[in-house]
Amino acid sequence: MRCKSAPMGRSRWRWSIRRESTTSLTCGTGALAIFLRKAFEVNITTSDYDDGEIEKNISYNCRANALDVLPHIRHTWGDPFPVCTPNWDIVIASDILLYVKQYDNLVKTVSFLLNEYKQKDHKSGCITITDKSGTQISAKPPVFLMSWRRRIGKGHQSLFFDGCEKTGLQVQHLGDLVYLISNKQEADFVETKSDGGSSEGMIF
Ligand SMILES: C[S@@+](CC[C@H](N)C(=O)[O-])C[C@H]1O[C@@H](n2cnc3c(N)ncnc32)[C@H](O)[C@@H]1O
Repeated sequence: MRCKSAPMGRSRWRWSIRRESTTSLTCGTGALAIFLRKAFEVNITTSDYDDGEIEKNISYNCRANALDVLPHIRHTWGDPFPVCTPNWDIVIASDILLYVKQYDNLVKTVSFLLNEYKQKDHKSGCITITDKSGTQISAKPPVFLMSWRRRIGKGHQSLFFDGCEKTGLQVQHLGDLVYLISNKQEADFVETKSDGGSSEGMIF
C-alpha cells in the first residue's frame, strides 16, 4: 500500500458508527477510508483536492488492498461542492490544519457539509463516540470529526476554530487533539455520559 500515514489510527478512540454514511474529507492517500471500509464496512466516500493524480493514487491504494475503488469527490476547499445536497452523517478528517492561508476556504467547505446536510432516509439515532476513559459523547448527525497531530502554532490552530465558530458552528474539543464540530442546531443534542469503559463500537 502506498500510504504515508494513518493518523487517526494512533489515538485510542471508539466510535460507534450506527449511521453509515461517511465521507473522508481531504483523505490524502485514502488510508483511513480504506481501513474503515475494510475493517467495518463503513459506507464511505473519499474526497481530496481537485486533482486527477490524487484520485488515481486513492484508486490504486483501494485496489492494492483488494477493495473496490471507493466513490470519490474531487473538491478544493472553498470551491462549490460538486454535490448540492450533502447527506453524509459523519465527515472525518485528519491532519488538515497545515495550510493556514486556506482556513477560510476550509471553514466554508465544512459549513456547507454541515449546514446543507439532508438526511438520506429516515434512520434515527445518534453517533456515539467513546473516549479512552469510557466517556461517551452522543451527537446528532451531521458531525465533523477531526484529529490532527502535527505541531502548528497555537495561534494558527485557534484561527481555524474561531473561523468555525464565527460561521455559527460549534467546536467541542474531545481531548487528544480530536474535535467534534457540528452546526448549532444539532450541537444542542450533544450529550456526554460515562459508560465505565464498555467497549461497543470501533477502536481507533
Ligand atoms: C497532510 S495531508 C493529510 C492527508 C490525510 N488526511 C492523512 O491524514 O493522511 C493534507 C491533505 O490536504 C489536501 N489539501 C491541501 N490543500 C487543499 C485544498 N485547498 N483543498 C482540498 N484539499 C487540500 C492535500 O491534497 C493532502 O491530501
